[in-house]
Amino acid sequence: MPKKEITVDDLPGVGEKIGEKLKEIGYTDPMAIAVSSPSELAALADIGEGQAAKIINAARQKLEIGYETADKILERRTSVAKIATGCKNLDSLLGGGLETQAITEAYGQFGSGKTQIGFQVAVNVQLPKDAGGLGGNVLWVDTENTFRPERIVQIAKGLKLDPEKTLKNILVARAFNSEHQMLLVEKAPEMIEQNKIKLIIIDSITSHFRADFIGRGELANRQQKLNKHLHQLQRLADAYNLAIYITNQVMARPDMLFGDPTSPIGGHVLAHQATYRCYLRRGRENTRVCKLVDSPGLPENEAVFKITETGIKDV
Ligand code: GTP
Ligand code: MG
Repeated sequence: MPKKEITVDDLPGVGEKIGEKLKEIGYTDPMAIAVSSPSELAALADIGEGQAAKIINAARQKLEIGYETADKILERRTSVAKIATGCKNLDSLLGGGLETQAITEAYGQFGSGKTQIGFQVAVNVQLPKDAGGLGGNVLWVDTENTFRPERIVQIAKGLKLDPEKTLKNILVARAFNSEHQMLLVEKAPEMIEQNKIKLIIIDSITSHFRADFIGRGELANRQQKLNKHLHQLQRLADAYNLAIYITNQVMARPDMLFGDPTSPIGGHVLAHQATYRCYLRRGRENTRVCKLVDSPGLPENEAVFKITETGIKDV
């Protein structure tokens, strides 16, 4: 990606004044501009929509966002890397671990292990490549106030890592509502570049959207916002060759989706945007079962694991 050499000041249409303004609102990276919409940028930077559209187009052109030839995709695919979970069953289910340039979703009932997998990969990604990691750091967006540094410490100790250092490599932001959650992702490019981020975790992706858009009348609006949010995540995954791990609840009652009480929320938008979908459930004797229900190139299968003090392990 040629993003490093380009700054917002290089974009046609960005003069000194707008350049200042963009930096003020945290849009220091052309990627942040490229992934925003004209109305949004216009409102944030206090400029006209036409001008905003021009700047966005310029950013997209500079970053070569749009169509590309298949050989380029292949070239990009060769840089796809995996974060091993440290649990052999789970890794083989996922074809080696959490993939970069992809969104991996885990959905399931409370206590099924969604957040625990997050803790585990947030530590493992920090390991060197030969140990299954990417030697990178983590952005963790916590929407339910369930991030527990104590668990990170336990898992780090289990891997003989320095707990203090491990904690320092995880940047946590509490998202207070869906707008805030989206903003945290919009502002991520700068953080990603400055902090060698190789994994973004959103725990959970849907809870705020579910709470902020209530009722049928709000459904279309909610799905549109969620779609945009997921698109932005995917673009970050591609642009920075990083992995995205998101969690999601299952619906307790069949409101807008029908039937199956184990359906994930988020409807078609999420079903479509998540590259890998994993359904987690409690298994026998306190184990957990992870079922890969959707993936672009792996068979549907199941893996059993358990949650221990030092993280997720094979049974
Ligand atoms: P919600 O966020 O409520 O939807 O659930 P979740 O799927 O994120 O649940 P989570 O991943 O947090 O799993 C919680 C479960 O992990 C608990 O019910 C425990 O069974 C298990 N767990 C958490 N911490 C420990 C620990 O230190 N030791 C052991 N053995 N198990 C733990
Ligand atoms: Mg959780």
